[in-house]
Amino acid sequence: MKKELEKIRQEAIKALKNAKDSDTLEKLENEFLGRKAELAKIAKDIKNIAKEQRPVVGKLINDVKRDISEIIQEKKSGIKPTKQAIGFDQTLPGINPNIGHLHPITQFLEKIEDIFIKMGYEVVEGPEIESQKYNFDLLNFPKDHPSRDIQDTFYVDKDDAQNRPYLLRTHTSNVQIHAMKTRKPPVRVLAPGRVFRNERTDAGHESTFYQCEGFVIDKNIHITDLIGTLELFIKRLYGDNANIRVRPHFFPFTEPSIEVDMSCLLCEGKGCSFCKKSGWVEALGSGMIHPNVLKNMKINPKEYSGFAFGLGIDRLMMLYYMVNDIRLSYSGDLRFIEQF
Ligand code: DAH
Repeated sequence: MKKELEKIRQEAIKALKNAKDSDTLEKLENEFLGRKAELAKIAKDIKNIAKEQRPVVGKLINDVKRDISEIIQEKKSGIKPTKQAIGFDQTLPGINPNIGHLHPITQFLEKIEDIFIKMGYEVVEGPEIESQKYNFDLLNFPKDHPSRDIQDTFYVDKDDAQNRPYLLRTHTSNVQIHAMKTRKPPVRVLAPGRVFRNERTDAGHESTFYQCEGFVIDKNIHITDLIGTLELFIKRLYGDNANIRVRPHFFPFTEPSIEVDMSCLLCEGKGCSFCKKSGWVEALGSGMIHPNVLKNMKINPKEYSGFAFGLGIDRLMMLYYMVNDIRLSYSGDLRFIEQF
């Protein structure tokens, strides 16, 4: 038996040595290792051998099989291509397909969402085509507020139930009201989204841009909670060197309202042309949710209080990536997008 197996091994080695293309190699592989090969027959007949001999013969068969398949593998890696494959160099490195990636704004929004999700916020979306009721009235905008003016707002050629035209939302604050229709305090909501304004476009302005609204409603929420949250957010996003300062401001839907500046990262607060020599850059608007807005959300302002903030995503992103023209983000220009 041993002799027989050795003979097969020698035959295989000799035949394989002369194999010059993959067709021949495949044929030989079948001949020596296939189901009808001599080796396979011997392996099948092993049951006719004396019991104590079987392990020895089994091992021999496996050794020969392994040797033959090793030679075949070696040959395969060094073999010349067969006729059909001539003209195709298998050794050339492949072309990496360009699979693209998320848009820089989406990537940046995801960073912001991650920070707030870790603080327990829930991410919510709202409609881009909105009624005046949700965009303005329920947010305590007076009937004659200038931002309702056609110069600031895009109106849609379709009326709502009150016979007033729908509009393209001018801010993400509309989600405050929508989200509270289906929730009860305590809530922590983050609402990123696209907003629209009838603006003349320049390096710092676009008519379509992104905002991210955030708000918290609970018992005993104070302005210090708001400032602490925003400071933590800015430091988590830009690093511990970034600081904030607050200034009083006015928004119809918050009282008191504040505007938040962050230290200029380009000059580290020393003053440069980007921050107009002040060392500070306007970062976001915020405040304590106005009692009228809480009432419009069917929440008792004597029991609950809340804060809200609106991040201008494009501005924050320009600072984050040191981009100096907002229009690049929306241009679809691959030379810009592929840098991220
Ligand atoms: N909606 C404001 C805007 O578009 C931004 C804003 C300011 C949102 C203060 C807020 C806030 O939630 O509290 O300019």
